[in-house]
Amino acid sequence: MQLEKGQFKTVKELEEYMAQFIEGSFGQEDMEVLKYEVEKLKPGQVYLEIGVAQGKSLTTAYHFSKPGVFTIGIDYLDPTLRGEFMNMTLGDIPHGNSIIGKGTDCIYIHADARTVSKLWNIPINLLFIDGGHDYESIKADTLEYMPHVVKGGTILLHDYDGQNADGVPKWIDEKFPHAEILHGKIARVRCE
Ligand SMILES: C[S@@+](CC[C@H](N)C(=O)[O-])C[C@H]1O[C@@H](n2cnc3c(N)ncnc32)[C@H](O)[C@@H]1O
Repeated sequence: MQLEKGQFKTVKELEEYMAQFIEGSFGQEDMEVLKYEVEKLKPGQVYLEIGVAQGKSLTTAYHFSKPGVFTIGIDYLDPTLRGEFMNMTLGDIPHGNSIIGKGTDCIYIHADARTVSKLWNIPINLLFIDGGHDYESIKADTLEYMPHVVKGGTILLHDYDGQNADGVPKWIDEKFPHAEILHGKIARVRCE
């Protein structure tokens, strides 16, 4: 089944649906923040996510963004971990509960974010950083992709609570001392 954008009206509905297929620590409060931000994007604008894992946040961004908004995720994980949910293993045969497929606005870049950044030249309206959680990785993700965030764009950085690694809050406090911290977990930065 190809999932249709907008078929889930609430975060709870989408979360319950995704729970049948995929796991991830991206919770309902996180989803609410992302929903609020992606709903503001206009067709043609770009959401870039670093760190897709099984696809909870990318799926959230996809579903709650308008048709025509490009939702792009980068991860180097072996796609078999995502199975059919992201339609990674099945080539161009429409099958599984996929958000990536023929005619969708969703793009998965299966690569190291360090490599992709060397080629990246697309303006980003909303950047979500949830890749490597050590200090050097989150620093590199920020410094390599932030120059592409447009004026008026937004950066969200996950795991400010340091649950997965101390490097995340350390970097955020150092680079963005005035970031808004949402439910103790997501740092939000508006780019002027
Ligand atoms: C915490 S998980 C992401 C969770 C995801 N956002 C979700 O909603 O479930 C972090 C992911 O970042 C990926 N990652 C770490 N460093 C990376 C890099 N340099 N390039 C690409 N992916 C990377 C890992 O493979 C992992 O899947």
